[in-house]
Amino acid sequence: MSIKTIGLLTSGGDAPGMNAAVRSVTRSAIFNGLRVKAIFRGYRGLVTGEIKEFRTENVSNIIQQGGTILKTARCTEFTTEEGRKIAYENMRKEEIDALVVIGGDGTFTGARMFAREYDVPIVGIPGTIDNDLCGTDSTIGYDTALNTIVDAVDKIRDTASSHERLFFIEVMGRDAGFLALNSALAAGAEAAIIPERKTHEEQLEELIKNGFRKSKNSSIVLVAESPKTGGAQALAERMHEAHPEYDVRVTILGHLQRGGRPTAYDRIIASRMGAAAVEALLDGQRNIMVGIVNDKIVYVPFTQAIRDDKPLDPHIVQTLQALSI
Ligand code: F6P
Repeated sequence: MSIKTIGLLTSGGDAPGMNAAVRSVTRSAIFNGLRVKAIFRGYRGLVTGEIKEFRTENVSNIIQQGGTILKTARCTEFTTEEGRKIAYENMRKEEIDALVVIGGDGTFTGARMFAREYDVPIVGIPGTIDNDLCGTDSTIGYDTALNTIVDAVDKIRDTASSHERLFFIEVMGRDAGFLALNSALAAGAEAAIIPERKTHEEQLEELIKNGFRKSKNSSIVLVAESPKTGGAQALAERMHEAHPEYDVRVTILGHLQRGGRPTAYDRIIASRMGAAAVEALLDGQRNIMVGIVNDKIVYVPFTQAIRDDKPLDPHIVQTLQALSI
């Protein structure tokens, strides 16, 4: 079957750079003689029929905007067989032959299920600040979120240092520690408590045992939000019990990490991945995610992309420890 019309959606948590990907998919598709139909609010829009044809001007002046102009949602209807049937019928009605879905593991899990039931070619683009998808060095939004976190930590450091306090700063990442670890390195933090390492009790123990550099009058510890770390608040309470002499404070950065103008890096990978997604569909590929590994476009099956064991280089942990003496 030759593809004439592509349906495009963003789903799951938004990420800076998603708009750059929407622009790239739309323009690459039109450049290649295809039509593009924008589906609003993720899979929900496929179920409710919130679909509109996009022309090149629909994606003007969005490359620099955070969030997603297509809106996004975590859709429960699409998790049911009945919901997916309605979605498929709407696709047929709109004459959509293939889908490009931009999102994270939930988005690709939905895509896999849909593709198993219906004969729909689907290509995924990794858009999540968590960087927790296998088969790509970086997901769209991760670099911007890292920069946002580092900017916030720099500001917290000013007050931490003035008051000679120990701060536990909680960052997002769901079950992955990429944001916590790499922002700790970039912000010159003393430690990162992440789910990929030992238990959080052991990591806290290690932190207490190592002590804080005598010459320092303040300390910053980045904590990944995962239940496996217990979160910043619980760790701070334990630290306070063990070391009442430390003046401990907690900051939970929350959703500000998901906003803001995408960095140049996120715009570049979003633009490259968007174009590559259209090329993949034209080449007859399906049920794959576009990634970039060692600066080269790669395609990985959804099953591989959503594995929950993306490796985190242990050398980064060692480097962080070495640099915080
Ligand atoms: O997956 C992206 C993410 O921002 C995670 O880091 C976080 O755990 C989650 O989404 C928050 O989701 P919500 O926007 O539903 O609060």
